[in-house]
Amino acid sequence: MSLSKIENLLYAAMGLNTASIGSSGVLRAVEQRMLDCKITNISDYTKILITDQKELKQLVEEVVVAETWFFRDTLPFKMLTKFVQQEWLIQNPDKQIRILSLPCATGEEPYSIAITLIEAGLMPSQLKIDAFDISERNIKRCKTAHYRENSFRGVEQSIRDRFFNYDQRFYYPDILIKAMVNFEVASILDEKFINTQIPYDIVFCRNLLIYFDRETQSQAAAMLSKLLNDSGLLFVGHAEASIFAKNWFVSQRYEKSFIVRKINDAVLLNKKNKKTSAITSEKIIKKNSVRQKNKRERRKVVRATGPVPSTPKPLLMATAKVPKSTTNNALLKAKQLADSGKLIESETICMKYLENNKTDKEVYYLLAIIQLAIGNEQKSLQYFKNVIYLDPEHYDALMYLATMLGEQGDELGAKRFRERASRLKNRVDLNRGSQ
Ligand SMILES: C[S@@+](CC[C@H](N)C(=O)[O-])C[C@H]1O[C@@H](n2cnc3c(N)ncnc32)[C@H](O)[C@@H]1O
Repeated sequence: MSLSKIENLLYAAMGLNTASIGSSGVLRAVEQRMLDCKITNISDYTKILITDQKELKQLVEEVVVAETWFFRDTLPFKMLTKFVQQEWLIQNPDKQIRILSLPCATGEEPYSIAITLIEAGLMPSQLKIDAFDISERNIKRCKTAHYRENSFRGVEQSIRDRFFNYDQRFYYPDILIKAMVNFEVASILDEKFINTQIPYDIVFCRNLLIYFDRETQSQAAAMLSKLLNDSGLLFVGHAEASIFAKNWFVSQRYEKSFIVRKINDAVLLNKKNKKTSAITSEKIIKKNSVRQKNKRERRKVVRATGPVPSTPKPLLMATAKVPKSTTNNALLKAKQLADSGKLIESETICMKYLENNKTDKEVYYLLAIIQLAIGNEQKSLQYFKNVIYLDPEHYDALMYLATMLGEQGDELGAKRFRERASRLKNRVDLNRGSQ
């Protein structure tokens, strides 16, 4: 009873949908706070929470999932470069680009944006990056900006060498990069605060709406609509594009990196901007219809004669977890092909590899990602299930399954996988804490 009251308080304070992390996740945070406050009875703790905003904030700090890393998902940052070089700099040579990262967690995302923009050719004076998060503790860590190896999963060595310093314990961003980001504590649901912000050209809002229920997702989408100017781009997490399609934004699946625009603007762009740059709505729509046609053609031929040489395709969300250190050349090659958009070639290699490696979870994971990129969700689901059959603790596969089943309306199935992922994460957090 007390726990469900606490869950309601968290929902009101930060929009947290308990199902996203499971009641066990909330309970773990509550137990930690009770320990810190030396309170043994949960009813007593609930009473304090009702009257003491400070304690509620402390509980929010305990419950937030701040999982993030530099250049997470890779492709959004490649798309940002493409947008800046092919659209922004041409159309706005003298204007400053304004970017928001919300939520920024511990800072890896906004610093990655800063590095991307500098690499794309902007001068520091040509950009302004704001970064908000509800957690005061996270914002403090953003400002301190001390990172461990773990924050650099898959980041090119040359980027780390050029933009970070190392003091034997931590990596920290170069002072110039650090100075480019302004951090602030703020909730996406705080309408008063949001109303005071000048709309941005680009907003990154990734991996937050998955923690909200539908009503709160709509509320957040409305806030994002205020935060984004009419021609702006909104970068969302893999699992989140469909949420925006249902609300204020049109999903463009912009080369599969999950970028959306405001719906009015997308319609306007189609009418007005027939000839312009590489990434207008119209081009994407055309590309999509060609892609659909190619897909139909490909299906026909694949059934009859096996895979045909692929036509140019979108880049794949390069999340496949083939370790860089793997000695397996075939899998590495398959991942590189997938990363460069050659999905059919990549799939062919995977299938061949699979013949002699039926228990390698990584090949199933890559196949699942490929099928998702092609738009074959059922096959993708099956491959993700193979992954967790071989490795029940594969966090990413569990999260994909939860999200995909949720999108298909299988709430129960989604909940099951989300809870498994959440239990796994809690365990990893606990282990980390005790190290
Ligand atoms: C999983 S991290 C996402 C970080 C980053 N965007 C990424 O994709 O790597 C989720 C973050 O959302 C923050 N958060 C949770 N509820 C929030 C809210 N209502 N407003 C702003 N931030 C919130 C948490 O503190 C946490 O740092």
